[in-house]
Amino acid sequence: MGRLRHLLTLRGLPRETYQDLFGRAEGFMGPGGSSVARTESLRGSLVVNAFFEPSTRTRLAFEIAARSLGADVVNFDLLSSATQFKSESFEDTLRTIAALGADFIVLRHGGEMPAEGLLEILPKATCLVNGGEGSDDHPSQGLLDAWTIQREKGGFDGLRIAIFGDILHSRVARSLAHAFATLGAGSVTVSGPPKLVPESLEGQLKVTVDHDPDRAVAGADVIICLRFQYERMGGSYEAARDRHNYTIDEGRVALASPEVMVMHPGPINRGVEIAPEVADGPRSFILSQVRNGVAMRMAILDALGEGRRAA
Ligand code: NCD
Repeated sequence: MGRLRHLLTLRGLPRETYQDLFGRAEGFMGPGGSSVARTESLRGSLVVNAFFEPSTRTRLAFEIAARSLGADVVNFDLLSSATQFKSESFEDTLRTIAALGADFIVLRHGGEMPAEGLLEILPKATCLVNGGEGSDDHPSQGLLDAWTIQREKGGFDGLRIAIFGDILHSRVARSLAHAFATLGAGSVTVSGPPKLVPESLEGQLKVTVDHDPDRAVAGADVIICLRFQYERMGGSYEAARDRHNYTIDEGRVALASPEVMVMHPGPINRGVEIAPEVADGPRSFILSQVRNGVAMRMAILDALGEGRRAA
């Protein structure tokens, strides 16, 4: 297995790399699975969170993860940056962050440039982590969600997964499609308002589209709810008009497997894609995802640190 130098996408990420990251993340879980074991593996390194789009979980989880590994962390603040009012380009902002001494850059951006292209403008030694890019990729979220399922279900063989909501704009859905294809999930069904559900998610993964939400959820082992991304709808919310027909409520959860995991990468909109009693209910894994997100981001930074030292 080659060492990880950057984490840009889950497209083509080998199965062994998933297993390696799952193993590392497990090692970082504290006793009882609630806290995170601290180490010093990134002592002396600087991690810069460069978020050109808002974020709660991803940014905080990367920051906590980096600190838990002994790294120094600096957060780029978009609103007070020269990008905002002084028209500095995205690329020049990145060059500046690298020149300031970032060893790792966790980057979130609107997707105007694929992460691969950005490597050309960064020094060789800088590790780039995709913290969410346009509607295309959100590898760390895909990894933590897949690991959360693996921990609960023991594996992916025969697993029936239903993804609900705004699939069209979801980078999480695309990263999960790669993960589920590589890890060998039994079946993936997507459901939501017709204009927000593309016919295929990713060429390599067979996805069944079912606009009948009750049928889509029947017997599911995992339900993944996704937020309606109004900010990517160009000012018209027409496509999301029938969104309330796809809400995951208690009635729908009752149609799934009794052991179903209800997941959501967040941010959650209660009463829209998920009913409050489901979000807070016994089958909800939403806060486990958040907790696991710290250990998984530690695993990613730890593996990248190893790759960096070996280079
Ligand atoms: C998602 C994102 O930003 O891609 N959230 C996350 O990172 N946990 C999903 C969303 O914005 O709805």
